[in-house]
Amino acid sequence: MYNNNLQNLMNNQIQLEFQAAHIYRGFSIYLSHPKIAYKGFAKYFSNESDDELKHAQELSEYHQKRGGTVELPNISSFDTKLYPLQALKQALILENQVLDNFILISQNSDDQTRTFIDKYLQIQTDSIAEYTELITKTSRLDNNIGLYMLDNELLNNG
Ligand SMILES: [Fe+2]
Repeated sequence: MYNNNLQNLMNNQIQLEFQAAHIYRGFSIYLSHPKIAYKGFAKYFSNESDDELKHAQELSEYHQKRGGTVELPNISSFDTKLYPLQALKQALILENQVLDNFILISQNSDDQTRTFIDKYLQIQTDSIAEYTELITKTSRLDNNIGLYMLDNELLNNG
C-alpha cells in the first residue's frame, strides 16, 4: 500500500534528486568559469545534473500517479565553488545519501514501488562506483599536467 510513510520517503527521495541536480549544476557552472577552466569536469557535472533532474521528474511522475503530492526542496545555501576533487567528494556524500534513502524505500515498500525503484538502486550503485573511481584517479594525480589530461579526457569522452 502506498501509505503515508512510503509517500514521505518517496518525497524525500524526490527532494534529494532535485537537490543533487541543483548542486551539480552549481559545480558545473563554477568549474566552467574562464578563470577556473576545468571544462571537462564542468561537462561531467552538467551531465550528472541532467541525470538527477531526470530521476527527480520520473520519481515525481510515479509519486503523483500513486496519489502522492510533490514538495519541492528548500535548497539551503550550499558551497558549490569547489575545485574538482572537493566537488567529487561532496558528490559522493550526496550519492550515498540518495542510495540510503532508496534502500529505506525498498525496505518499506509495496510490491509495485519496489519494482519501480529496482532500476534506480542499480543506477545508484553504478554512480557511487563511478564517483569513487574518479576520486581515486584525481587523488592520484600529483601535478597540474595530470589534472589537465584528466580534464581533457572528461571533455572528449563524456
Ligand atoms: Fe539520481
